[in-house]
Amino acid sequence: MKTVQDYIRTIPNFPHEGIMFRDVTTLFSDPRGFRIAIDQLLHPYAGQPIDKVVGLEARGFILGGAIAHQLSLGFVPIRKKGKLPGKTIEQDYTLEYGTATMEVHDDALQPGEKVLLVDDLLATGGTAEAGIKLIERMGAEVIGCAFVIDLPDIGGRKKLEGLGMNVHALCQFEGD
Ligand code: PRP
Ligand code: MG
Repeated sequence: MKTVQDYIRTIPNFPHEGIMFRDVTTLFSDPRGFRIAIDQLLHPYAGQPIDKVVGLEARGFILGGAIAHQLSLGFVPIRKKGKLPGKTIEQDYTLEYGTATMEVHDDALQPGEKVLLVDDLLATGGTAEAGIKLIERMGAEVIGCAFVIDLPDIGGRKKLEGLGMNVHALCQFEGD
């Protein structure tokens, strides 16, 4: 029986030389692959109180939307700067070269709400950390961070666990 990892395609040298791109589109496009990924992502949180699912642009929207629907919860997007129409709060984060900014509507979460944060991949953890900061700045609480892929050699899991986060990943690619 294929695992979640078996559905992920690797494309060498994308977006530049030396990078092994872990492509989840082949996981998402397979009906069994997508279903087992969603089931496994939410499994540790079944029965836990959660108020909202928050997804990180872009692939976190696909996963987070399906998880929110499955749990009968609302979904909140954290987007790259300049995409959300309402009043937002912003958080800068570090990329391989330079910095970028994530945004969320400032009324998307209420103080005290419990949040499950979702994205496809954990590398440095910079993107997820920006999401955590935005959620916490609204007074909400991150009860878990769920990813399809963890790249353990890059250190994101350690960074998030150092912030006191519960981190759940479905598979790992070592040596990336
Ligand atoms: C990728 C991936 C994660 C992030 C992980 O997104 O989808 O969101 O990088 O990297 P990090 O742990 O080092 O922060 P990307 O920034 O390529 O944007 P996209 O999802 O909009 O394609
Ligand atoms: Mg992303």
